[in-house]
Amino acid sequence: MTAEIARATRVVVRVPAKVNLELRVGPLRDDGFHDLATTFHAVDIFDEVTVTPDAEFSVSVTGVGEDKVPTDEANLAYRAAALLAERFDVEERCAISIVKAIPVAGGMAGGSADAAATLVACDTLWGLGLRRHELEEIAAELGSDVPFALTGGTALGTGRGEQIVPVLATGTFEWLFALTHEGLSTPSVYAECDRLREGEDVPEPQPSDGLLASLRSGDVHGVALAMHNDLESAALSLMPSLRPLMEMGLEMGALCALVSGSGPTVAFLLKDRQDAVALRRVLEAGGLADDFVHASSTPHGAQVLVVD
Ligand code: C5P
Repeated sequence: MTAEIARATRVVVRVPAKVNLELRVGPLRDDGFHDLATTFHAVDIFDEVTVTPDAEFSVSVTGVGEDKVPTDEANLAYRAAALLAERFDVEERCAISIVKAIPVAGGMAGGSADAAATLVACDTLWGLGLRRHELEEIAAELGSDVPFALTGGTALGTGRGEQIVPVLATGTFEWLFALTHEGLSTPSVYAECDRLREGEDVPEPQPSDGLLASLRSGDVHGVALAMHNDLESAALSLMPSLRPLMEMGLEMGALCALVSGSGPTVAFLLKDRQDAVALRRVLEAGGLADDFVHASSTPHGAQVLVVD
């Protein structure tokens, strides 16, 4: 007699948003990407992805920005499930349902996070038992930010951002994110960055020792001083309204104001939650952004919450 292995009928995975504390962009490569040296940092704004067995792949989306998210093969979560099934000869299919809190097209890797969560959820649903490096390889095929979303916490990304090494970071930082309803497309921000740097000799990107040392000691002022984004001037060039928002935040007590990834979300780093709440009030009254979200650093990446 053989024992029946109970198969999961529902898996729920939670996955965080990211901000790039540092984003150094090298020259344009022949494959259309840029070499990066970037420090990813996860914050506790979470999307939740649920997978259940179904006859076909499908995606449904509720929550923040739901009307802006595709529900067909254009959705990275759909592609994640399909690629995993193809690579490991899985004949089963699943319905993917996403509850969004991460801003869409906001430079916080929301789509990449959903893809990472789907890989972890399907791995569990289908009982594949994949190793970390196997999931990371597939994640890298899906997009440059997807491997980080698996890992979470704080990590250095090199290559096109997909080669991830965890960074020793202590302390929990307080953030206020200012959101703009109109998104920026990542390729157009990189293209604008190339245009602005035309004729310049762009060096190979290097992470700064100052940031890594400040993260090790949990020194929020050192982190604020070292934060940097090479895509910021491109995002500001495409969306000049971000500049007065950032200036006002700095005048009103933010330790640092930085465009998150390719934008247009602006990340303000604050001394504590009290300062973040006070800054939100001032910026809300100023009407310079469409919405605001508080967040703290999180050590988590894509995490299984429920298996039924
Ligand atoms: O990897 P992902 O699909 O998220 O990248 C989206 C686009 O962003 C790429 O097609 C490319 O235009 C740009 N990109 C880049 N260099 C990187 C990452 C992304 O130029 N390292």
